[in-house]
Amino acid sequence: MSDKLIETRGSAGVMRLTLNRPKALNALNSGLLAELDAVLAELEGRRDLRAVLITGAGEKSFVAGADITEMRDKTPEQARQFASQALATFKRLERLPVPVVALVNGFCLGGGCELALACDWAIASDNAVFGQPEVGLGVIPGFGGTQRLPRRVGPAMALDLITTGRKIDANEALRIGLVNRVVPQGELESVAEELTRQLAGNGPDAVRSAKQAVHDGMDQDLDSALALETSLFALGFAGDEQSEGMSAFLEKRKPNF
Ligand code: HXC
Repeated sequence: MSDKLIETRGSAGVMRLTLNRPKALNALNSGLLAELDAVLAELEGRRDLRAVLITGAGEKSFVAGADITEMRDKTPEQARQFASQALATFKRLERLPVPVVALVNGFCLGGGCELALACDWAIASDNAVFGQPEVGLGVIPGFGGTQRLPRRVGPAMALDLITTGRKIDANEALRIGLVNRVVPQGELESVAEELTRQLAGNGPDAVRSAKQAVHDGMDQDLDSALALETSLFALGFAGDEQSEGMSAFLEKRKPNF
């Protein structure tokens, strides 16, 4: 690992971002958030981008929360600025035009859980631990947890987790729909490679349109959202991708996207 706070590497247009403050269990401070924002600003303009995978450095932690050392002496205005900075960066991550997957490799607490919630979906290693422990520190979640957690797992389960601050293991996170899959810790890397192959093998414009349809449609009533799907579906017939994909199927070969 280098001394950068965000390590980036990628193949086939799938970028891997590793949050790199392992001594502090990858806690999110202003420096790390600013670096993440800069990396995302660069990625959002890249036409060759197919997907983003995000994980934490080390064996123990995805992200153990916002940095408590940095937060302790903040005034209300400084706290507002800190939360706003993170919210803007998480929004940028969420609105990347490609799938964003959290590979949760350990502690996923507070702001870490909120970061995972800003991703499209999450795969957890079997040692992962999730929670929103903020009330135990005398505050509420401030990086989107009170809003994205109920949208992911329902308001009752979100309030259970947020008001008790209890921690849950990977299997409970799977059961409540906070993560999509749980894999043995040693297999997270091979799962990431398989995911890279899958995501890079599909029609890139179709994948982008699918994400747009789901995200934009969630904010609309059903009729408007279905009309959005029809528009994006039809748009898929305007480029080369659809004819290549369907021709490849009919010619019994792999598509070349
Ligand atoms: C700053 C942190 C940290 C954090 C861990 N560390 N979490 N530093 N902010 N959120 C540091 C520890 O101080 C310690 O530093 C080192 O990382 C290793 O942590 P340990 O506690 O020694 O490890 P362990 O005993 O294994 O316990 C792991 C842990 C515990 C259960 C994850 O570290 C923990 O409870 N951390 C805080 C979790 C939390 O409350 N997160 C929510 C934060 S509030 P040293 O220097 O002693 O080695 C939040 C709000 C978001 O996220 C919204 C804000 C607007």
